[in-house]
Amino acid sequence: AAVVEHTFVVNQVRMRHLCNDTLVTVVNGQFPGPALEATEGDTVVVHLVNQSPYGITIHWHGVKQRLTCWADGAGMITQCPIQPNTTFTYRFDVTGQEGTLWWHSHVSALRATLHGIIVIRPRSGSYPFPKPDVEVPVIIGEWWQRDLVKVDKNFSIGGSFDDNPAAIAINGKLGDLYNCSGVAEDNFVLDVEPGKTYMLRLVNAALFSEYYFKVAGHKLTVVGADANYLKPFTTDVVAVAAGETIDVLMVADAPPCRYYMAALANQPPVPDPQIPVFVSRGVVQYSNIPKDAKNCTEKSPLMPVMPDQHDTITTFYFHGNLTGLQPGGNPLLPQVRGRVDEHLFLTLGKGSMCTNNKTSCKRGGNPESFEVAYINNVSFHLPDTTAVLQARYYGGKLNGGRGAVPVQDLPSRPPRAFNFTDPALIPVVPGGKMEELEPTRKATMTRRFAYNATVEVVFQSTATMQSDSNPMHLHGHDFFVLAQGHGNYDAARDVRSYNLVDPPMKNTVQVPRLGWAAIRFVADNPGAWFLHCHFEFHMAMGMAAVFEVDNGPTLETTLPPPPSDLPKCTR
Ligand code: C2O
Repeated sequence: AAVVEHTFVVNQVRMRHLCNDTLVTVVNGQFPGPALEATEGDTVVVHLVNQSPYGITIHWHGVKQRLTCWADGAGMITQCPIQPNTTFTYRFDVTGQEGTLWWHSHVSALRATLHGIIVIRPRSGSYPFPKPDVEVPVIIGEWWQRDLVKVDKNFSIGGSFDDNPAAIAINGKLGDLYNCSGVAEDNFVLDVEPGKTYMLRLVNAALFSEYYFKVAGHKLTVVGADANYLKPFTTDVVAVAAGETIDVLMVADAPPCRYYMAALANQPPVPDPQIPVFVSRGVVQYSNIPKDAKNCTEKSPLMPVMPDQHDTITTFYFHGNLTGLQPGGNPLLPQVRGRVDEHLFLTLGKGSMCTNNKTSCKRGGNPESFEVAYINNVSFHLPDTTAVLQARYYGGKLNGGRGAVPVQDLPSRPPRAFNFTDPALIPVVPGGKMEELEPTRKATMTRRFAYNATVEVVFQSTATMQSDSNPMHLHGHDFFVLAQGHGNYDAARDVRSYNLVDPPMKNTVQVPRLGWAAIRFVADNPGAWFLHCHFEFHMAMGMAAVFEVDNGPTLETTLPPPPSDLPKCTR
């Protein structure tokens, strides 16, 4: 195994897009940032040099970080931020996983421009599918013309309607839809040769939305997700949840021409005129297009017919179609089939908080209250002085001594059942009445697991979360996705729909809008691992918790001490 070494210099640069110069925080002057390419089993070393004015951490999304929780890069969970004009070296192995992952900053909303792809190739050099001729990253991101640190603050107190991305990018290209006069069309262009196979490594790096992805005139064969292989299946539309990665094969078997690839944001199905259609296009361009070919001019490639922007059914079936392919078998599958040590039922929803920590204030659109998001009625508070992992390792206290609260197995109030005949539960319409939200408390919520415990988590969306799906992401572990459904989870009925034969392994599960999803994992990686919704606004609003995994009985199952250059916390 080799050592893959990089230096990431984080600084602020001006980039010109949409006829505007915008000051953005990036790595090595690039948007998206540099790709990390490694072979399974390699050691990755990244020297992070922070020349930006912000405290920064980088998270290696989906990397299992076995016994290297210190390198996970979750701000205030595993480390305090790397302060301006200081450095920190991330060091971890990419072992036991192959495929596409990505890295992004994990403080405020800066990951909008601080992200890049991670490619882990098999040691044997061969895939469990025909080897593609060319591999291509396709990173779906957003272009923001706002101060992202401020945007994050706005999110944390309920958000503001002005906080929308300015455009959607494919591999950093915003495309012609957002062009200003006199500037040439600026799309990502993939040059293809007839008959060759292209592996598109799709990453959804957007803060806000799930995306539908299509290529006009071409079928896509899904072969992997979240750096795990899948049983291949062919489709013309792919759904990529926020934080998720999907690998697809595309054969260049269409008549030589130009075709658009398109990424369309899947928006809440609320008739809200404030929600624009967000779409980005790239071009698949064949070599040797015949001179007399019709509709192949640079201005008129064939556009795919996209799903409706409010379609939440296509993603439900897309994600329901994923089944795992584990060449050689997965040693964890027999364990999760056999016994479950911990059952957690986690409700996802929204509540209200009073400003200035007042205990009583009028709710619902009142200036004294704001909206928060929760798991089991507790809105997550990111510790302010010490990271969770440091407090745990050194026996310190979080939040100036106030500490953490345990995640409850059941919410303190049962989730409100979906009841579509109850007018209070009908989705919000413009000019209509906001649903009144229950007061919610804020705390740093953690849950401890014994080493090697088998954990089942059922995520249940609630009636307070009517318009959004929730892409729930767990750090430090892959989990098996056993089932998903619409409406309220019913253990007696729904356990029978669990796929314990060939469930897909993921690090992010799309919990359907107005529905639930069930996962199981083995808590075999000591440390403190963030669990959160990968919609940035949900995370900032508090839809998060920390899973702490105890050390095992041996040195090989014990978290080593932190690296000596780990940033100091302020207290
Ligand atoms: Cu990609 Cu904690 O996230």
